[in-house]
Amino acid sequence: MRIGVLTAGGDCPGLNAVIRSVVHRAVTQYDDEIIGFEDGYRGLLDRHYRTLDLDAVGGILALGGTILGSSRLERDRLREACERATDMVEEFGIDALIPIGGEGTLTAARMLSDAGLPVVGVPKTIDNDISSTDRTFGFDTAVGVATEAMDRLKTTAESHQRVMVVEVMGRHAGWIALESGMAAGAHGICLPERPFDPADLVKMVEERFARGKKFAVICVAEGAHPAEGTMDYGKGEIDQYGHERFQGIGTALAYELERRLGKEAKPVILGHVQRGGVPTAYDRVLATRFGWHAVEAAHRGDFGKMTALRGTDVLMVPLAEAVTELKTVPKSRMEEAESVF
Ligand code: F6P
Repeated sequence: MRIGVLTAGGDCPGLNAVIRSVVHRAVTQYDDEIIGFEDGYRGLLDRHYRTLDLDAVGGILALGGTILGSSRLERDRLREACERATDMVEEFGIDALIPIGGEGTLTAARMLSDAGLPVVGVPKTIDNDISSTDRTFGFDTAVGVATEAMDRLKTTAESHQRVMVVEVMGRHAGWIALESGMAAGAHGICLPERPFDPADLVKMVEERFARGKKFAVICVAEGAHPAEGTMDYGKGEIDQYGHERFQGIGTALAYELERRLGKEAKPVILGHVQRGGVPTAYDRVLATRFGWHAVEAAHRGDFGKMTALRGTDVLMVPLAEAVTELKTVPKSRMEEAESVF
């Protein structure tokens, strides 16, 4: 078999572990040939690819980022890819394509599959918001980075009697904020799923100070919004990939709290640091399992599907099912952390 592999969308710790796993399984078990398209779907459209053999994937298991590069695909180029789908199969002589990516990449994968490409998807995102898999790799690493940052911020916050507002990633789903906030013992958590009232946070901080605890850490997802009429904070424009350009809730909230409390409040924006660097052991294992199962699915001819973790098993689920809705934080999970909302 000749298998194409690509990584698209925002990068994520564990992408290289999937690439390595695909190559190892395909080459050692089936004697396949693997080609890696560069910079996501762009490599497919612009014919930029290289052969990946065992040497090419040596030493990349623990490497962050992606050795193939990544990019987001503009809508008109996606249309072009769908129109050329069957020609591309001929042109590259590929029997299967394994795109590794998040919601946008998997939506494109589904469209390409419908257009005639034999596709097996692998889901990734640090946001953990793909509904048909219990977990995506990258999430565990991001939660670890954010948790460690808040652990560190607590000691400096306490030394200076400050409020720290820590902004983490999560556009529509607050999984990173929820889990890192819980793990670090944040005193407030704000999620995109539930508009917050800054007055509640002011009350919480004042009560803490009244009890002699002279600092607070508040973890806020980048997509969190204040409830209407509670604070000045606008909606951002939509960019060319359909994403809202956020206005910086971490900074806005820190200034708002400082003004209302008369105490120092500092914004800390963790940003892309959550996505960079070494994946955790959990993410390496999940990524490796996804790569293994993707190759097996390709050899069974199980196309139009993606790998998914259900409980402790990796299954194949239809791409159509994977991209219908985002997995957001349910009320029951918020209730478990209720004291900090
Ligand atoms: O999808 C993961 C994610 O990390 C989001 O949480 C974040 O808003 C987005 O990607 C930012 O990606 P980029 O800066 O690469 O466009």
